[in-house]
Amino acid sequence: MARKLSVLEVLLIIFFLIVLVVDIFLLVLLLEKSSDTSFTPECPEISKSERIDCTPGQVVTEDVCTQQYKCCWETEADANIPSCFFPRNWGYEVINASDTSTGLTAQLQRLPSPSLFGNDINNALFTAEFQTSNRLHFKITDFNNVRYEVPHENVQLVNATADISNLSYHVNVTSTPFSIKIMRMSNQRVLLDTSIGPLQFAEQYLQLSFRLPSANVYGLGEHVHQQYRHNMSWKTWPIFTRDTTPTEGMINLYGAHTFFLCLEDTTGFSFGVFLMNSNAMEVTLQPAPAITYRTIGGVLDFYVFLGNTPEQVVQEYLEVVGRPFLPSYWSLGFQLSRRDYGNISGLREVVNRNRLAEIPYDVQYSDIDYMDGKKDFTVDQVAYPGLSDFAKELHDNGQKYVIMMNPGIFKDSEYDPYDNGSRKRIWILGNNGFAVGEGYPGQTVFPDYSNPACTQWWADQFAKFHTNLEFDGVWIVSYYSS
Ligand SMILES: *[C@@H]1O[C@H](CO)[C@@H](O)[C@H](O)[C@H]1NC(C)=O
Ligand SMILES: *[C@@H]1O[C@H](CO)[C@@H](O)[C@H](O)[C@H]1NC(C)=O
Ligand SMILES: *[C@@H]1O[C@H](CO)[C@@H](O)[C@H](O)[C@H]1NC(C)=O
Ligand SMILES: *[C@@H]1O[C@H](CO)[C@@H](O)[C@H](O)[C@H]1NC(C)=O
Ligand SMILES: *[C@@H]1O[C@H](CO)[C@@H](O)[C@H](O)[C@H]1NC(C)=O
Ligand SMILES: *[C@@H]1O[C@H](CO)[C@@H](O)[C@H](O)[C@H]1NC(C)=O
Ligand SMILES: *[C@@H]1O[C@H](CO)[C@@H](O)[C@H](O)[C@H]1NC(C)=O
Repeated sequence: MARKLSVLEVLLIIFFLIVLVVDIFLLVLLLEKSSDTSFTPECPEISKSERIDCTPGQVVTEDVCTQQYKCCWETEADANIPSCFFPRNWGYEVINASDTSTGLTAQLQRLPSPSLFGNDINNALFTAEFQTSNRLHFKITDFNNVRYEVPHENVQLVNATADISNLSYHVNVTSTPFSIKIMRMSNQRVLLDTSIGPLQFAEQYLQLSFRLPSANVYGLGEHVHQQYRHNMSWKTWPIFTRDTTPTEGMINLYGAHTFFLCLEDTTGFSFGVFLMNSNAMEVTLQPAPAITYRTIGGVLDFYVFLGNTPEQVVQEYLEVVGRPFLPSYWSLGFQLSRRDYGNISGLREVVNRNRLAEIPYDVQYSDIDYMDGKKDFTVDQVAYPGLSDFAKELHDNGQKYVIMMNPGIFKDSEYDPYDNGSRKRIWILGNNGFAVGEGYPGQTVFPDYSNPACTQWWADQFAKFHTNLEFDGVWIVSYYSS
């Protein structure tokens, strides 16, 4: 006896259908979870100094460590030594590999280990290039997708004419889990061994650790630490540039240097490692000795330099990243600088006082206070009238003048440098038009120096400003945002 369904019945049917779909979804989630729980961490006896922290920067309980992260646990009283550390069976495995005359490649697949931060990349590609007899380049990229890589403006990727018939190194790949060993041929010493920790390659978390042949590690920066040689006793140094006073123990300063040099032994043999990655990162040094790089984007793009001496290593490194420019002779002389001389009289008084006292001094600076409203390419005509004459007088006395500039441009359509730059569309873009920040003059935009039109604009501003004020150098300060 057919009859039409009532509205209530239809709603009930829809309701039960929804419940069914949700149940199936939850079941699938549960199954996925249970495949996770099938992972059993391999935790052999791992000496304290060799533990690679599974939860860096976090304090976790044993339960969270072993249940959630599937890592190994050994309660450790010293908070610097990780209690929660990676098992041996984390990371990736090689699914196929091939040798070429100038390198080797290996396709990597993620082992069924848990995820630290989600969005892990399942298929990666390891590529090694024997670039010169002393320089090895290796890279770990996403097999299926293109990710951001630092542009190779100065880096000569493959030197086709380099002699690689007599390599001073050998690369040995281990399949499960994936790791590499880089050896010095002449004495068979293993310089770098990544088997100490797992490769991590997620959307926003990339990590690789190296066991080192010696604890004589130099470089990485910029940071302040008392000794030139690094302290390998569980130190983590972030690398993310900012404008701040370099006081004792200060981390994160003006420059980013992802390079370190390792002096192998008393014979002076040494090698260098450079990670070409411009994202925020940190490095951990530990007593194994070992080093771990962790970065939040891009790819793992390493260069290894096997000069026999530290000097050769640095030469090989500079060949890749570019050599520093030769500074003017005068810039090596005595210099005087401070913020806020008050006004032109205050500035003149300091110069005259030093000249009268016959103190040798080659360069006088003006910090941001010479500017009108802290805007680049302007002079505060109230406090600093006659600044151009002041610069000429310095020159008449054989001295030089350096002024400060900030790469943050005041956002005001009445302000010529901003107006001209906006018409050329040379500012860094945000999600919604030009990215706007808070800088010294107020709201600022940021020149995108990777745009050739921007470098032209920047040079034009200086050329024009220089016709009014004959400065000899500029002190360009990395940007400060309060
Ligand atoms: C792996 O094998 C496949 C199929 O033979 C091939 O297409 C691919 O290029 C190989 N990958 C590497 C890294 O050798
Ligand atoms: C390339 O190799 C040649 C021959 O070994 C060498 O003269 C040249 O300096 C190398 N160039 C770079 C950029 O490494
Ligand atoms: C290969 O390199 C080693 C070490 O750099 C050197 O002693 C040796 O003479 C080289 N051999 C050839 C054939 O160039
Ligand atoms: C590479 O490593 C494997 C496993 O450790 C080892 O058996 C092999 O001898 C190594 N090859 C070379 C050339 O060192
Ligand atoms: C290295 O750091 C540890 C831990 O902070 C400290 O106890 C030790 O004195 C430092 N070593 C040196 C040589 O500065
Ligand atoms: C310059 O500054 C000094 C000290 O701050 C002050 O005494 C003087 O009056 C100022 N001169 C002018 C011209 O503003
Ligand atoms: C900015 O543009 C205006 C108008 O095109 C021009 O007169 C001025 O010289 C430009 N300024 C600079 C610094 O390029």
